[in-house]
Amino acid sequence: MGGDTKARYYLVAEAAWLRGCYLPAGLFSRRVLSNPPAACQMPGLAGGRSEQSSLFSTVLGVRGRNMTDVRLEGDVFEPYALLKTLHILLIATWLGMDFGTFISYKKMRDPSLSIDTRKQMYRVFALIDMGPRSSLVLMLTLGVALSHMGSWAFAGAGGRAFAIVTAIVGILWVAGLWHQYWVHEALPDNPRPELHVRAQKVFRPVDIWLRVGLAGGLAVAAVVSLAGAEGPIYADWLAWKLILFAGIVMSGVGIRMFLPAVASAVKDIFTKGSTPEREAALTEGSRRTVRFVYAIWVLIIAITWVAIAG
Ligand code: HEM
Repeated sequence: MGGDTKARYYLVAEAAWLRGCYLPAGLFSRRVLSNPPAACQMPGLAGGRSEQSSLFSTVLGVRGRNMTDVRLEGDVFEPYALLKTLHILLIATWLGMDFGTFISYKKMRDPSLSIDTRKQMYRVFALIDMGPRSSLVLMLTLGVALSHMGSWAFAGAGGRAFAIVTAIVGILWVAGLWHQYWVHEALPDNPRPELHVRAQKVFRPVDIWLRVGLAGGLAVAAVVSLAGAEGPIYADWLAWKLILFAGIVMSGVGIRMFLPAVASAVKDIFTKGSTPEREAALTEGSRRTVRFVYAIWVLIIAITWVAIAG
């Protein structure tokens, strides 16, 4: 979409949003009216929206969604409202459970605790960690569906196909992550069948490359759209969100880079006992990964701000 067309699309979309002028006609067919009837016309729309700029657009100098009191008209159980509710709830299962992960990990590292207690802490940590890991993928899957359904991005048949493919890949991806947990966290006296262990050897690099490709793809699409070229994202707040989201995905890849060192230090301590050298190896590996964890927290808070103030 060219600059002018995109700007017009955006204004029409915003006018339609403010007036509740959507066509809520099923899961993937919600559309902003391209030629709103008189009842949907907004007086003064042609004059631009400078007097209506939000905090976000004022601070960052970009266009954003209007903060006027907006209510969706129609059925409260409509798919868009339900998916958006789930999308927002994922902040709790992500950020909230990440704090739990952090605390249990810290306890697991505590050399003053017995090895048995530290093992139990590790098991708690590994299970709670599935919250943030699943939330990242589901957040993206729901975000893409909302973007298409709300005509914020990925419009048309191509966008619809993209949303459906993202939903399918998202579900398979989350299943792969839980399978990884099931295989890796098996107790020593109950190892998983060899076929599953081999499947995870394939899944691990796929998981990492999917993340790298995703972060790159989202960032490029967002930058191209912000630059005013023919980008697939029509709302600037969403483009900024995707750039920040790409930062989260890459921070996750950063954590994974140092995980083998941490895992081997933990294994040494759990099987051979605690020594100052082994504890130092664990501390060093943890120091490197924790920077990425802090970065993810800051980025999630920033994305939430952009989503609400944009
Ligand atoms: C850490 C990641 C994310 C967080 C914390 C987040 C947070 C939020 C929040 C709080 C809202 C509600 C905003 C409002 O109604 O005022 C929202 C809506 C939305 N988000 Fe996200 N989001 C994230 C990732 C994504 C991604 C990756 C996409 C797109 C691929 C996306 C697309 C959307 C869309 C389209 C809406 C609906 C906007 C509306 O109807 O007002 N989000 N998000």
